[in-house]
Amino acid sequence: MEIKGSTKIAVVIGHPVKHSMSPVMHNRAFRHLGIDCCYIAIDVKPEGIEHFVKGLKYTNILGVNVTIPHKNAVIPYLDELSEEARVLKAVNTIKVTEEKLIGYNTDVYGFEKCLEGLDISSSSALLIGAGGAGKAVAYSLCRLNVKDLYITNRTEERAKELIRFLNDLFCREITFVPFDELDSLGVMDIIVNATPLGMEGIGKELRVPVSIIAKKTTAIDLVYNPPKTEFLKIAEAQGARTLNGIKMLVYQGSASFKIWTGIDPPVDIMEEAINEYL
Ligand SMILES: NC(=O)c1ccc[n+]([C@@H]2O[C@H](COP(=O)([O-])OP(=O)(O)OC[C@H]3O[C@@H](n4cnc5c(N)ncnc54)[C@H](OP(=O)(O)O)[C@@H]3O)[C@@H](O)[C@H]2O)c1
Repeated sequence: MEIKGSTKIAVVIGHPVKHSMSPVMHNRAFRHLGIDCCYIAIDVKPEGIEHFVKGLKYTNILGVNVTIPHKNAVIPYLDELSEEARVLKAVNTIKVTEEKLIGYNTDVYGFEKCLEGLDISSSSALLIGAGGAGKAVAYSLCRLNVKDLYITNRTEERAKELIRFLNDLFCREITFVPFDELDSLGVMDIIVNATPLGMEGIGKELRVPVSIIAKKTTAIDLVYNPPKTEFLKIAEAQGARTLNGIKMLVYQGSASFKIWTGIDPPVDIMEEAINEYL
């Protein structure tokens, strides 16, 4: 694609940000659709976030994806927030116009697409991890009315804080389970890894007891590099249905794309771009 004076720009901001897969999938979609826009990653240091966000209205930047550690820090400088962004206090997408900046959270949509076709109202689910992604996952599971929800996390207090947040919002029971007591749970219908364990470069795998995984289990790992983590290999060996983080990544990206352009992007083409890159 030729970059010209008329070319619009979409960006992802983070710190660090060079690991981001978003440029690969968005540029492929822009090219496929013949849209005169390019997508780049910009490393914004935390002390520069206010200047960066406030300056957006005065540029030809079409839209912004926001990743760690800025998802909460951008909020004071936005004019409007979507329901999910407001409730989760986390923005991963900004729509830029001359008049206003609107913040969205498309991680929720991305995760909910992973559950498409499943009626989870009679399901049990175990969420591993209570950070930013864990919060979006837990919110989705509660919104879709999962029957039993269990949360485990390395730092107990963080999981309990998430449970209090969900209790206030959804008025429902959620159980904290210490990691070393997971084998006290029966077979789970859904297990989600929302920690970086198993990710390339982390050097530590997620080990869940095999007694909680069986054929009826859907095992979802938000990690996408490598595409098949040890957790997913173990789940597959137990006969479970497995899903890596690429689907969530692509669908949260597709929702951002639609917010910026009004066009539904080709998700299969975006997924292909990521698989080729990994
Ligand atoms: N596929 C996607 O679209 C997508 C979207 C968002 C995130 N993700 C992935 O999801 C993962 C979590 O992201 P995040 O934004 O939630 O990060 P985060 O806010 O930093 O939270 C990290 C979570 O992982 C736990 N954790 C970190 N290192 C650990 C370790 N060595 N042992 C046990 N637990 C550990 C943390 O526990 P403590 O509370 O004890 O620190 C916390 O619960 C990352 O791998 C990220 O790439 C994928």
